[in-house]
Amino acid sequence: MSQTYIVDLKNNVGKSVTIKGWLYNKRSSGKIKFLQVRDGTGIVQGVMAASDVSPEVFKQGDGITQESSLEVTGTVRADKRAPGGYELTLRNVKVIQIAEAYPITPKEHGTGFLMENRHLWIRSRKQAATLKVRAEIVRAIRDFFDDRGFVLVDTPILTPAACEGTTTLFEVEYFGDKAYLTQSGQLYNEATAAALGKTYCFGPTFRAEKSKTRKHLMEFWMVEPEIAYADLDDVMKLSEEFIVFIIQRVLKNRREELEILERDIAALEKIKLPFPRVSYPELIKLFKEWGHDFVDGNDLGAPEETVIGEKFDQPVMIHRFPMKVKAFYMKADPKNPDLALCVDVIAPEGFGELIGGGQREDNLKTLEKKIKEHKLPANAFKWYLDLRRYGSVPHGGFGLGLERTVAWLCGSEHIRECIPFPRMLYKIYP
Ligand code: 4AD
Ligand code: MG
Repeated sequence: MSQTYIVDLKNNVGKSVTIKGWLYNKRSSGKIKFLQVRDGTGIVQGVMAASDVSPEVFKQGDGITQESSLEVTGTVRADKRAPGGYELTLRNVKVIQIAEAYPITPKEHGTGFLMENRHLWIRSRKQAATLKVRAEIVRAIRDFFDDRGFVLVDTPILTPAACEGTTTLFEVEYFGDKAYLTQSGQLYNEATAAALGKTYCFGPTFRAEKSKTRKHLMEFWMVEPEIAYADLDDVMKLSEEFIVFIIQRVLKNRREELEILERDIAALEKIKLPFPRVSYPELIKLFKEWGHDFVDGNDLGAPEETVIGEKFDQPVMIHRFPMKVKAFYMKADPKNPDLALCVDVIAPEGFGELIGGGQREDNLKTLEKKIKEHKLPANAFKWYLDLRRYGSVPHGGFGLGLERTVAWLCGSEHIRECIPFPRMLYKIYP
């Protein structure tokens, strides 16, 4: 039997269609039963009158439980009062399977319970809306870089060394050797950028983050562009254009989902170029003005990100952090060698760091020294140093966390709702 998707009902007014889906909710009033059906593309109410269907079908309606799978056939009617704007006058209902008592009911559930049932929770309206926004963001990310001549490269997941510090490495056995799940594709991208000019990688990255926060996952997706012949200013410009591009795309294509999520859309609509740029030394002064206690020389933590997110209604680009708190590959600012040519982009409304990036150290001798200072295994970085031996150029790039971006655009309290199956501290089920 042919199938129509709920999203396409608008093109089928007056026609008879069959929707294949699951029962979302139902109620009845005397000789009429209302079956709300979802099919992944939307929800539609089917109105079943005793006079329109066979007595068996009408009677069967009582036994259809929440999340039972079913096919409903009926005529599409435009109705402004109906959720979604359309209703079905039902002629037939075919049950595929009667669901057992469904654990997630319209009443409130605790998050622990919902996470245990994540495989079912994703059927809920808000969760499904979040996953659609995520998919839209992924498409926007690919379009942005593909349309600007960046070449997509896939960097390895199993790696011999750390990129972002040794404390968050996931170790695996590799034929009697040690390997680590990648924390970032950046180092490999520095090689691909020297080969292809402008590249990006986009895939899962892994960090054994030992603290429980609402912004950290053990497995998260990151998109990382890398550009040969680029400096910190180029990286900052690309970052802000990229973020605005993503927002515009989501506002254009996923407004309905943002409404389902009750997102304050105006807060997203006002995001404009250029983003404010604040150097670390300037930030220290601002913290003093705001009366926020912060030790000069420290990295930003969640409290600082929250304060910054409250003071600005735009993403803020904090640049030139102290070298001491940043990764080994950062290039020092020639004007002040204690500061790194790097940038963190902090989201408004307390959603935290979206992007980390900057200009890379391109001098062989300096980089050799840095690898020693950071006590990194020289052997594993031999190939990386080659990039400074053979045609080294100024270059840079950044990494944007996909789930952080989804959380911000959807207004999600917790990043765990921004990936289909989150991997969290001590939690790997389902
Ligand atoms: O700032 P990070 O650590 O930067 C890098 O990994 C660079 N090597 C990227 C580059 O220059 N190519 O991570 C980049 C972004 C963060 O700004 C944040 O959005 C996200 O990745 N991120 C996480 N998201 C979820 N859970 C975690 N545990 C995350 N750690 C970082
Ligand atoms: Mg960072």
